[in-house]
Amino acid sequence: MKNDSLYDLYLEHEGKVSDKWHSYLEIYDEQFASLRESPIRLLEIGIQNGGSLEIWSRYFPNGSLFVGCDIDPKCSGLRYDDDRIHVIIGDANTDETQNEIRQNSDMYDLIADDGSHRSSDIITTFSRYFSMVQPGGTYVIEDLHCSYWEAWQGGLNAPYSAMSFLRRLADVVNAEHWGDGGDIRSQLKGFERHWNLTLDEHHIALIQSVSFHNSVCIIRKSVSGPPRVGSRVVAGQERMVADDPLLRSGHEVGAIKLDLDKRLLGEAAVVDRPPSSMGEGANPWGAGAEPMEEVASTIGELRLAGYDPFKTSDFVSTIKDVRALYPEEQNPIPHLLDDAVMLRERAEVQATKISELQQVQGELIGDASKLRELTETQEKKISELRLSYERIARNPLLGFFLWLKFMVLSMLLRIPFLSSSSREKMRRSAEKRAPQRFRAKSETANSD
Ligand SMILES: C[S@@+](CC[C@H](N)C(=O)[O-])C[C@H]1O[C@@H](n2cnc3c(N)ncnc32)[C@H](O)[C@@H]1O
Repeated sequence: MKNDSLYDLYLEHEGKVSDKWHSYLEIYDEQFASLRESPIRLLEIGIQNGGSLEIWSRYFPNGSLFVGCDIDPKCSGLRYDDDRIHVIIGDANTDETQNEIRQNSDMYDLIADDGSHRSSDIITTFSRYFSMVQPGGTYVIEDLHCSYWEAWQGGLNAPYSAMSFLRRLADVVNAEHWGDGGDIRSQLKGFERHWNLTLDEHHIALIQSVSFHNSVCIIRKSVSGPPRVGSRVVAGQERMVADDPLLRSGHEVGAIKLDLDKRLLGEAAVVDRPPSSMGEGANPWGAGAEPMEEVASTIGELRLAGYDPFKTSDFVSTIKDVRALYPEEQNPIPHLLDDAVMLRERAEVQATKISELQQVQGELIGDASKLRELTETQEKKISELRLSYERIARNPLLGFFLWLKFMVLSMLLRIPFLSSSSREKMRRSAEKRAPQRFRAKSETANSD
């Protein structure tokens, strides 16, 4: 029994029902192996039929306390032979229930949240109970697949879901590297505002690690103080590839006893400054920037209000609307968005200019090809003229005959094409010269 895996215990179990996914049991076996013989105090939020408390009490045979809490009044009927097991009925997210839980113990080595699985409850429960995790202890959240579903206040990209919160806690583990201006409360303020809760900054800063598994997140609390990357430990003398000047800064003094394991490692250097001392105050994406979920939620709210935040006109009008509603110092639109508007406007102006230039370029190309055609025609004519000029120059007689031919042809062509006015003029001058002929002609015409 003592070495049975949690899965084995579930398979053997015959008492009250417990309902967990197979992979959880393997994860817990791996994570809690070192605690199996410890006198741990365990709190489970959400116990339903109560079987998990029975199995936990067998898994940790030396466990000193197993407290289960459930909002369902039917759980008050659960009875256990083992007097280490206690059941508290009530909403875990009320002061009253939390005080009752505290009466059993102020601190717990392992707290498991298997309650409603709604994002607001998961984050609120964490904000209430992580302070009750013993230093070095563990907080587990089950069934996080619900965090991807709308009915549980989630969604893959939901800014304030339980998973978004837990991803932020992974940043908290690295808080010492955020650089200038980064404080945990301001980075998590969106969750506080959105779910109307107060986060315990002091205890959150003690998160040693956050490990994600399928549907389960395991958060470890440090034994003492916020986690630190610690000293840079450098051993050896040969620097064939990288000769970091930092490692020559007076720490290289023969053999140093490393504070990690107190063993002599020959020549070694211990550099105390973690990379966090580098600043990041000027980094536009550093701690001074609006947290991701705040930006995402602002964009989401604009969408819900019927604006398309990625359409400049909507974006600009929204910002103007919001600006009009709030005094400058309470302006809820982050500067980041202002910059985005400005950049988008500039981009649109540039795009218009580019398309105008492309149009002009097209017209110029058209003109150039027409000019080329014209030039070619002219060149052809010029070369023909040059040829005929050369022929004439070579043979003046041919020139004369050509001229004569032209003159004769023009005369011949001109006769049938005399205009009516010229013909009238010719008739009148003929009448002047022989009027009697014309008179006789008109008399003959009248007698007819
Ligand atoms: C998934 S079941 C628990 C299953 C149990 N842990 C097991 O392993 O068999 C979820 C339980 O959480 C309880 N619950 C939901 N919201 C709660 C809350 N705010 N406080 C306490 N319990 C809650 C429900 O009544 C339900 O019995």
